[in-house]
Parts: sequence; structure tokens; C-alpha cells
Amino acid sequence: MALHLHLTGLFSDGNDSRLTIDQARACFPRAVAARSEHLADLPKWRELGHDRELLATCRDRARQVKAEMPVDNFVVLGIGGSALGNAAMLGALAPVFQASNPEPGQPKCFVLDTVDPDLLDEFFETVDLTKTHINVISKSGGTIETSSQFMLAYSLMLEACGGNATECAKHFTITTDPNGGHFRSICDEFGFAALPVPDGVGGRFSVLSPVGLFNSEMAGLDTESMLAGAAKVADNLKECDDEDDPALWYALMHILYLEQGLDKHVHFAYGHRLRLLADWYCQLWAESLGKRHNLAGEEVNVGPTPLKAVGPTDQHSQSQLFVEGPDDKVYTMLKINKFRRELSIPKAFVESAAFSHLEERNLSDLMEQERQGTEVALRENGRPVCVLEMCSLDAFHLGQYFMFMEIATAYAGGILGVNPYDQPGVESGKIAALSLMGCKGYEQRAAEIKQLFSQQHDFKLSC
Ligand code: PA5
Repeated sequence: MALHLHLTGLFSDGNDSRLTIDQARACFPRAVAARSEHLADLPKWRELGHDRELLATCRDRARQVKAEMPVDNFVVLGIGGSALGNAAMLGALAPVFQASNPEPGQPKCFVLDTVDPDLLDEFFETVDLTKTHINVISKSGGTIETSSQFMLAYSLMLEACGGNATECAKHFTITTDPNGGHFRSICDEFGFAALPVPDGVGGRFSVLSPVGLFNSEMAGLDTESMLAGAAKVADNLKECDDEDDPALWYALMHILYLEQGLDKHVHFAYGHRLRLLADWYCQLWAESLGKRHNLAGEEVNVGPTPLKAVGPTDQHSQSQLFVEGPDDKVYTMLKINKFRRELSIPKAFVESAAFSHLEERNLSDLMEQERQGTEVALRENGRPVCVLEMCSLDAFHLGQYFMFMEIATAYAGGILGVNPYDQPGVESGKIAALSLMGCKGYEQRAAEIKQLFSQQHDFKLSC
């Protein structure tokens, strides 16, 4: 039961422009400094694997919800760090083709991280709200998308409950800051049950807090094992030597390549169930490392561009670019060692030798040979590749993966010299949208934005 990082393909074999292991070792003191700083002031999210109290709180709430009403549908409303971890977790571990009549205790789960009217209207038209529980997640309690979704869902639920506000409130759990924000005050006023997003746990580092734990419990996943996996990685990486810390090597190599101009970091997930992990990673990596200012306050405008790819699908889409296009990318292949199920290809066309090489071969072998084929093609073309291998895709290894990537991101921020925990670029977009929607207190900003648009010539072509 482990997560393995294979680094060999990141280093030059002497015939290409990849970094040699000696070049990387020469830069290792930078990584060690970042790690020491991180360990000297451990962030709260790093200890979540050990937090029994938060697990008990989420478990109790899930039991209460399921005891109070039949829950056929469980819906997460939220965006960014409040949604992507939940989507990744469900994509990895929950049934993909959910039956139209789910088992009791196994609701159909949805993560709606959008205000797209087409999708939301169709969704609320489709589900039976009287058998639906809605988890509204916003740490700040002020995100415009989530607030709008909440208002919409509440009104529809109130209608479905015949105007009974007490009954309606039972269909909601609000996950938010325990001490402040609009959602907190709405909980107090309207009697919604609330779960806390603890202090020191920012959105994209929150999947192992109640943001993800309640979702996991409602979906009937093995939350205990997920936390155990996360705790194992957090503990091991605290105790090991610098040189033996895989997250440190991962962070260092990506930052060194970034500084060499290889600024696209591809998460190449070999497994359908891993595809949403790549979305979660993209937010974690981009929002944590893409910064205008460094820690000294200088304007640096740095950051890698994360990219998602899914194997083998993208072998027939992006691989051509990856193998022969610009040498500006670093690749992480996500590999599952043992799939949960096995399918053997039967002898289907016995009279023909056309596909005899496929007969009685396992699909998991085919998947791995395809992955290796892509790895070889990349490496032979001098492209840096590492492989992150999960022994199997279960809750334990998923917890390991989440914690590993979060720690690697924190280290990468330290090595790059930026604060991985803020997101001023996101905040400025949030404020602009609030202003344009006429939010009180933002009149000045709204006027500035309108002026900007009115000054610009609308370059528009039609067909
Ligand atoms: O990682 C982050 O901090 C952001 O992506 C937030 O999660 C996102 O903006 C949503 O914020 P909130 O949970 O406050 O609604």
C-alpha cells in the first residue's frame, strides 16, 4: 500500500537536453531550505489525516441526514477548491454508471460548479427534490456563483416542501467558515446545519477537511482509509531525510524545468477514474504557483501552466504535440498498478489471425503497454517524464495522492519563492463580478469597469 514516484525519466541519459542528476543535486539546497521552512511551521491542512474530531462531526451529520429522509440524490454546490476535490473523489471512487434506482444509503452524487442556466435548470427539473440533500460549500461565504446556486436551490426546495421552512432546511448542509461570512449568518438565521472549514485550510487544500469528508460519508466511501492514506504520507514525509522525500524531488524538478522554460506541466492520467484528479491538480498547481509577486514583494509574474491529459484517449489527441512539438513541458504519468476489475479480451474472430495478439490479453495490460509506449516515445525525444504509481485506486491511495500533491505544491511555492496560499488574481476577478452585479459597496469599481469597456472599440466579426 504505497505511492511510488519514478523519477528516472526526468533526468538526461547524456544524449538530450534534460537535466542530469548532478545538475539537480547541485540545486538541492534550495529545496532543503523550502522544506525546512515548511516543516518549521506546519500548515493545518497537513494534519487533517489525523483529525478524528472532524471525521466524527461529518460522519454524525451524514448519519443524521440519512436517518431523517430518503436521500436518492446528493448534490454539492460550490466552485474552485470547494468543488474540484469532491468531483475528483467521486470520479475516482463512486460508481460511474449510477443506477436509476440507487441502493439505500448510496445516493447518486453530483458536483455542480457552475451557474450555467442550461445545466442547472435541467438538473433541478430532473431530480426529485424531496429525496435530495444539498451541501452548499463556500469557505468565504461570499462567492457569487455559490451564493446564486444556494438562493436558487433554496427557493426550489422551499416550494418542493410546500413552503415549510423547517422541512426545507433539513435538506441542506452548509460547509463554511465557522466564525464569519454571509453563509455563517444565514445558517444562524435560517436554522441550517453547518460544518466547519477550519482556519488555516484554504479552498484548494481543503479536500481532506469537512469540504470533502461529508461528501465522502454521504457517498458511502471509505473515509477512514482516505484519511489514513493522507496521514501516512504526511508523517512519512515529515520524518524522512531531505534526499528521500519524493514530494521534494517532484517540486524541485518541476521548478528547475520551469526556470529552464519548460513551463507546461502535464498531468497524464492513465485511467478513466483518474481524469478528475487531473482537474483538481490543475487548480492546485496553477492557483498556488501562478503569482505576480514573490515573497520579497518584487513583481515576477511566474508560474507553470498545468495541463490535463487522459490516457489512452489523449494518445490520439495531444500526444503528437507532446512527442514532437515544442520542448516546453514536463510530464507526470499517473498509473494504477492494479485495477479494481479485470477484463480479458476473448477470442472473438477465431477464423482470423488479424487480432491474435490481443486474444486472452487483459485490458489492464493493454492500458499499461500503451502508457509505457507513450513514456518511451516521450523519453526518446528528450522530454522529461516522471511516473506517479498508485498500487491500486482505493480510498487509501487517493488520500495519499491528495496529501502528496498538496505537500509538493507547498514545497514548489517555497522553492519558487512565492506564497502558495493566496490568490489575489482570483479575488480581483471575484470583486469585478460582484461589482458588475451591483453589489453594495462596489459602486466605484463597477463604474471603473464600465468605463473601461465603453472606451474600447468592440472588434466584432459576424458570420
Ligand atoms: O482555492 C481557493 O481558495 C479558491 O479556488 C476557492 O476555493 C474558490 O474561489 C471558492 O471560494 P469559496 O470556498 O470561498 O466559495
